[in-house]
Amino acid sequence: MTKYKKTGVLADVFDRINSGAELEKPDIESLLSLSGKNELNLLFEKAYEIKLKYVGKKVYLRGLIEFSNICDKNCFYCGIRKDNKKTKRFQMTLQEIVGAGIRAFENHYGSIVLQSGERNNPRFTEFVALAVKKIKEETGGKLGITLCLGEQSEETYQKWFDAGAHRYLLRIETSSENLYKKLHPAGHGFRKRHECLLLLKKIGYQVGTGVMIGLPGQTIANLADDILYFRKLDVDMLGMGPYIVHDDTPIASEIKGYDSKKQLELGLKMIAAARIVLKDVNIASTTALHTLSPDGRKLGLKAGANVIMPNITETKHHADYQLYKGKPCLDESASIYQEQLRKKIESIGETIAFDEWGDPPHFFRKNSKLAL
Ligand code: 5AD
Ligand code: SF4
Repeated sequence: MTKYKKTGVLADVFDRINSGAELEKPDIESLLSLSGKNELNLLFEKAYEIKLKYVGKKVYLRGLIEFSNICDKNCFYCGIRKDNKKTKRFQMTLQEIVGAGIRAFENHYGSIVLQSGERNNPRFTEFVALAVKKIKEETGGKLGITLCLGEQSEETYQKWFDAGAHRYLLRIETSSENLYKKLHPAGHGFRKRHECLLLLKKIGYQVGTGVMIGLPGQTIANLADDILYFRKLDVDMLGMGPYIVHDDTPIASEIKGYDSKKQLELGLKMIAAARIVLKDVNIASTTALHTLSPDGRKLGLKAGANVIMPNITETKHHADYQLYKGKPCLDESASIYQEQLRKKIESIGETIAFDEWGDPPHFFRKNSKLAL
């Protein structure tokens, strides 16, 4: 039982949540507009209650391998965009990537995420397919593989799926077509990205999407629409994080008085509201939260997230994979960091699910409904 009192609009929204009614845009906007310790605690407690009911107290780990920062795209917010000449480019070898996968498996990670800048060419497609196949072979098919490699053709997505990847993350970045246009150069459109998400679903991936939170020009109404977009797309997983400035990007100059505390708070509110609306999906407590506060990921779990993606890329590459300023440069597969993470998670009464894929219950519920 909470010690805080709900009044007015908030009491109405909570009544609707408790009655099992589907929340509408104004309800979600109310949740995202909450402020002050008492109101925020109410929101996080409700999201946590729903998390416990639908996905439980286990935290699933995904070992994140950022294997290359070479990118064909030029998103206006991202530090590794093609035209940022200050970034030193790297590409891990096949052997290094497979080695990192094996290391993750030996460290009891149930699954990994292979992430890089976006590249659209046949050599890259083959390279990734081979890496996925080899990791699968070397781990006896036991390590789950998620890909986060941007917009690709149906054939490429299919090839990677056939090679053994079973989840794909492609953030929509913002569901507002207008805002999307302001954040990306001509030719990098919203529709294509949306269609890629549909392709991924059709092929049979467990599909994750997400947005950046607190972007310049983004409103609470936009964020509420983002959550409605996730519901409509019927996604299985979410990875969202606060926008963080990178100085060598075109939109950095638009940012006046960046408020880390507010960004963190808004990020946590989005996690909580998404948990309340989407219920049985997996939600990541992301690196961007960790960047804004050493306790960011723990706060994310308390707000409704149930997945953590420790960075297990070799540390020599971390400095070059700076999507934004201040990204932590830890080798989180090292036993010292694993131990620290375990302690943090246990301090909130949760446990790490070692050696488990941790698939989102939503994926199976959705598919069993389709089979009826
Ligand atoms: N701040 C926060 N997140 C960012 N990303 C890229 N640049 C930034 C930034 N400056 C996120 C995007 C992308 C993911 C890989 O990283 O959402 O999809
Ligand atoms: Fe490339 Fe992704 Fe960065 Fe866009 S967000 S520039 S696609 S790495």
